[in-house]
Order: sequence, then structure tokens, then C-alpha cells
Amino acid sequence: MHRILVARALYPETLARLRQHFEVDYNGDDIVFSPRELSQRLQGKAGALTTGSERIDASVLDAHPQLRVVANMAVGYNNLDIAAFDARGVLATNTPDVLTETTADFGFALMMATARRMAESEHFLRAGQWTKWRYDMFAGSDVHGATLGILGMGRIGQAIARRGALGFGMPVIYHNRSRLPADQEGPIGARYVDKATLLREADHLVLVLPYSAGSHHAIGAAELAQMKPTATLTNIARGGIVDDAALARALSERRISAAGLDVFEGEPAVNPALLDLPNVVLTPHIASATERTRRAMADLAADNLIAALAGSRPPTPVNPGVLPLAGV
Ligand code: DGY
Repeated sequence: MHRILVARALYPETLARLRQHFEVDYNGDDIVFSPRELSQRLQGKAGALTTGSERIDASVLDAHPQLRVVANMAVGYNNLDIAAFDARGVLATNTPDVLTETTADFGFALMMATARRMAESEHFLRAGQWTKWRYDMFAGSDVHGATLGILGMGRIGQAIARRGALGFGMPVIYHNRSRLPADQEGPIGARYVDKATLLREADHLVLVLPYSAGSHHAIGAAELAQMKPTATLTNIARGGIVDDAALARALSERRISAAGLDVFEGEPAVNPALLDLPNVVLTPHIASATERTRRAMADLAADNLIAALAGSRPPTPVNPGVLPLAGV
């Protein structure tokens, strides 16, 4: 029986299923391991079920040559050094598709909450400051009919675009590494533009691109300066794509109107400058967090581990080029 590490807390039902196939070392206390602790717990393990909080790079793989599969319970896998996995024939898997619509719901909701100043006005009410109606009280910006800008037009980006175009009559512009085929652009009337045009024309800009060295600080001071002063920015992608310090400055100087952030540079730490601002809605990396979707993500990560360590093709490999796996 292969030994695996379940690196964070998990649904008991998923854990029970894994125990039918493997000898499981379970981090039931849900400690976020230091790199040293993670390395210790990977001793003798053929597989690991990880989240975005566990970083597995060349040095970890070299220290554990018996490790064959890392099943990440996330669609993003910037915590895994895929070039190092490829070079050592180790498989990485992720959890795409099962979270697309749930994450798009949240991205759209965060964009709406940001545009319509929901968090700021709720704090005002809870603080007992609401004493009268006023014509311009918490006047935000419209979502319907406004131009929706999307940076990163993968599955989640397209699902957000559909919500905007079909539900809210929003013209959609987007920028992506590659342009969508016409039959995917057509139904949502999405217009492919360069990044400068996206920044200049979007009323509500939503970031849905993967994090990589190339997308680090894709939105910094220079990009924020190109946006409309009335625009909002929503980041449900990854911390580090936005330069949070530059964003805090732009928000405090009202160079853009507001931001909605579900992900942060260095999370779970949050740049203190953001915490003091009224015009930012802050949530703790929960875009995929519905009961049904998180269970589906856990189940898919388990399916990937079970298949890969049985020598079968797993449902959602990140680097299928390493298949078939040696030594399983
Ligand atoms: C993902 O799936 O990538 C989410 O950000 C959860 O980590």
C-alpha cells in the first residue's frame, strides 16, 4: 500500500476514501507547514494532497525521490514548480472545471459589491452612523451596461464574461495570451483588445489570469494610472498579480474608484494600507468556497491521487507528459 500525505484538513468522507487505498499521514490539525515540516512529513510518501499553501519545488522533489504524484486541491498550481516536476518525471494534478461557475459567481459578486459600495455602507450602518437618507449617500457606479474588462480569458474569465454580457448587458473586452476562437467570442460579443486598451476602456476590470513570473505585478502603478478614475478593479486570481502597495496608493488618492480583492501578496497577511481604506472590499481567498464545490475539488484531488498511484491516467493532470509514471 502506498503512503501518502494529506497536507491539510480535508472532508472526512474524502479522507475515508483515501484511507481505503493508501496508508495516510493526515495533518488533521491543519497546521500550515513550514518548508522544513513539509519536507519531514513527505518522508517515504509516494503521493501528497496539497493546497495552494504548500510549495513543492526542485529541492523538495530532490529530497524525496520516491514522491510520484502531487494532487493540488486548486485549479491554480503556482505553488508547484512544474518544470522541476517535468525534469524528474513527477506528476502534478489540479482541480479545474469543478470550480469554474462557483468562482465566476464570486468574481461577479465581488465586482458588484465593489461597484455598489456594499462593504463600506454595511460598516457605516453597523457603526450606527445611519441617521437619515441622503441623495448621494453611497452612490456607486452602475454594473449593468458598463464595460466589463477581463484580463485572463480562461474558463473562469469566460464564465464571468457570460454573466456580464447575457445577464447585465455589459459590453465585454478582454486581453489574454491568445484570442478566443470566433465561436466562443460570438455568443458573448467579447472583443479582444491589447492590454493598454483594456486598462483604458474598462469600467470594471476583473483579473482572472494565472500567476507566473510573467504576470507578477501585471497591475502596478503604471497600469493603474491608465485606468479610468471611475473604474473598479477586482482580483480573484492570485496575490502578486497586483502590486498591492501601488493599489493602496491609487485607491487612497482616488486614481481608481474602488477595488475588490479576494487574494493578496503574501496572504494570509494583508498589506495594512489596504485595511484602512474605505473603498476596497476584502475577502479571504474564498472565491471557490461553496460546500458543493469544495467537496468536488477534494474529490477530484483524491480521484487524481488514486488513479495516478494505481498506474492509470488521472482525470486532470497538469503535466501529462510524465505519464505513464515510473515505479507505481
Ligand atoms: C484555486 O483553485 O486556485 C483557488 O484559488 C483555491 O486555491
